[in-house]
Amino acid sequence: MAELVLGRVLSFQGDPFVEGYEAATCEDSGAILIENGMISDVGTAEALRKAHPQATVTDYGKALISAGFVDAHVHYPQTAIIASWGKRLIDWLNTYTFPEEMRFADPDYAAKIASHYFDTALANGTTTACSFATIHPASVDAFFTEAQKRGLRALTGKTCMDRNAPVGLLDTPKTAHDDSKALLEKWHGVDRLSYVITPRFSPTSSPEQLDALGALWAENQSCLMQTHLSEQPDEIDWVKTLYPSAADYLDSYEQHGLLGMGGLYGHAIHLEPREKDRLTEVGAAVVHCPTSNTFIGSGLFDMVGLMARGLRIGLATDTGGGSSFSMLRTMAAAYEVAQLRGESLHPSQLWWLATQGSAKSLHLHKKIGNIAKGMEADLVVVDLASTAPIALASARAETIWEAIFPTIMMGDDRAIKAVWVNGKPV
Ligand code: GUN
Ligand code: ZN
Repeated sequence: MAELVLGRVLSFQGDPFVEGYEAATCEDSGAILIENGMISDVGTAEALRKAHPQATVTDYGKALISAGFVDAHVHYPQTAIIASWGKRLIDWLNTYTFPEEMRFADPDYAAKIASHYFDTALANGTTTACSFATIHPASVDAFFTEAQKRGLRALTGKTCMDRNAPVGLLDTPKTAHDDSKALLEKWHGVDRLSYVITPRFSPTSSPEQLDALGALWAENQSCLMQTHLSEQPDEIDWVKTLYPSAADYLDSYEQHGLLGMGGLYGHAIHLEPREKDRLTEVGAAVVHCPTSNTFIGSGLFDMVGLMARGLRIGLATDTGGGSSFSMLRTMAAAYEVAQLRGESLHPSQLWWLATQGSAKSLHLHKKIGNIAKGMEADLVVVDLASTAPIALASARAETIWEAIFPTIMMGDDRAIKAVWVNGKPV
């Protein structure tokens, strides 16, 4: 059955970091035709109503219709410890994160938190998340099961660690490899799900474990590989002592086969010139986690400098190190971090990062993250006047970007009027 969704339709024809805000179009009386979960046509309401008189019509009036948000780096198991006070990275992991992740030994707890996570993400307009799980295979099963129930495109992997974490959270090089392999064979490519090979970060893996995961990745090149890179200075110093023969943090991955096009490196704040060169040369992606980088006190990501190198960059909440589930709040934080570096990101760049940019970092930009013919129909419908202060500010707008920017800066889940997943409203 064909469905016509009407509203102000925002789509990207190019990359606003390269082509400026003209890379985006907003059709005020726009329409999207959805058939079998896919976008089969995009145009004006008038033209598409005429061409498809049989289609069921949902009219969102003046609300903005965008591709659903894509969160390129989250930790769903940290859902319950978001906003934990007063620690920096390593202390924060030991004090809050690891004890919470231990609880995922219980599959019922994993299922409960996975369900809670997806309900919260959807309420915030996020239709795809790439998440870390815990070391427990059941935590991967729980995430994929809940995503599958909701028809979502979703990515995760077992978070491998064999040192520098509590005993209950340690695997070995062999079990990390074998569990990851079994989960990959079970889930990768099933429905809209993708398995991601996931060493947590160099400090919690032995060189042997990184080797084992590098070998698994070499055998499964259609999988992405996600980890953390250069988030805080203490962490970087620690990596130097743990991997004395590595040229730098990134090299601790490259020496073990964990650098490549399908690599996703979260944070990537304090990079050496050599690391930036290597990431660019191999075509890897880095993921900006601005609310986390301010909340845990990590530093100011160089969006403009890294974009200028042509790196693929995703945007992410990094919950629970990040302080919000909302990609609107995450765009606002990206704006604020860039301001602190003396750069002003345009609303078109922020919105692109939260949709196409993140999808590109996940190599999924031909499927999700934009409204165009042939894309999967994951949509977010955004009320650009969701609170009195936002309504007051946006009423003065002379351009679509002036109308959108107050929602980026002040919006939250109240701005999310509707969400469509795989061609259906949820
Ligand atoms: N580095 C290693 N693990 C983590 C994590 O869970 N969160 C963040 N922000 N950084 C990490
Ligand atoms: Zn993370």
